[in-house]
Amino acid sequence: MHPELARLFDLHGRVALVTGGAGLLGEVFVQTLAAAGANVAVLDLREDAAAQVTRQVAQTYGVETLPLPVDITQPQQVHQALERIDRTWGRLDVLVNSAALDPKVSAEGRVQAAGAFEDFPLDLWEQALKVNLTGTFLVTQAAARIMRRQGKGSIINIASTYGLVGPDQRIYQKPGQPPQYKPVYYSVTKAAMLGFTRYLAAYYAGTQIRVNALTPGGVYNHQDPDFVEKYSARTILGRMADKDELRAALLFLASDASSYMTGANLVVDGGWTAW
Ligand SMILES: NC(=O)c1ccc[n+]([C@@H]2O[C@H](COP(=O)([O-])OP(=O)(O)OC[C@H]3O[C@@H](n4cnc5c(N)ncnc54)[C@H](O)[C@@H]3O)[C@@H](O)[C@H]2O)c1
Repeated sequence: MHPELARLFDLHGRVALVTGGAGLLGEVFVQTLAAAGANVAVLDLREDAAAQVTRQVAQTYGVETLPLPVDITQPQQVHQALERIDRTWGRLDVLVNSAALDPKVSAEGRVQAAGAFEDFPLDLWEQALKVNLTGTFLVTQAAARIMRRQGKGSIINIASTYGLVGPDQRIYQKPGQPPQYKPVYYSVTKAAMLGFTRYLAAYYAGTQIRVNALTPGGVYNHQDPDFVEKYSARTILGRMADKDELRAALLFLASDASSYMTGANLVVDGGWTAW
């Protein structure tokens, strides 16, 4: 690649924060930002997993990393985490809001929190809104204080195809087992990420703070083969995503390569939402 083009994607000297950075995609996002040269803070509820990701990424890419064992629903913890980033590096250039309650399909085809809508527990609904929305709000608010000072930054909200179209609940059914469903809160909170993205992008008009959404389709993670087959048949490309296929899109949004993009939604879903 010509250096002129490579420069657009270069993150050396920049600082990034990834929430849910120890998750399946979160870890890929951390690795990608580090591979582009950024120093990265890895925020996650799971302390050991966050520490492991930061260690591995620092070793592999030679960047500085900071593990932040934080619950994003706790304002005080979030505030202290962002203060730590500011004290450590004095800046924040990229925020990736990836932490979320996202019930996965297991190797046996089970889905967590998969109750019927009519009986869906209020406490699960409220907990999901708290993590997926309020948590994202709190982290973004604290991060935006630093970005505002700089007048520049890139915020990336991780949404989902199920924020654009309803889940096809047929693919979650397993013959001989009780019905199960992708939970209602997932679609609702992921759709809200798009509203949040547009609100903030418009709010920061006149600054260089850009806010975009990244919408992945289903990522292969050793799910039940029957589910994988049914999911794949619903995509134009005929398969689930490999987690590494989100890397380029994330780097594009994080870097100056997307300097004329804000308030947008980048869809990487194998064509699920196109037919
Ligand atoms: N994996 C997929 O197939 C897929 C598809 C579309 C969209 N997404 C979205 O991508 C994002 C990342 O997905 P993933 O596969 O890495 O999910 P994941 O479940 O593997 O990771 C989520 C991470 O968030 C952390 N977390 C949960 N609650 C938290 C809290 N209160 N405070 C701090 N951290 C908390 C968890 O510990 C976990 O490490 C999510 O927003 C998800 O909705 C994923």
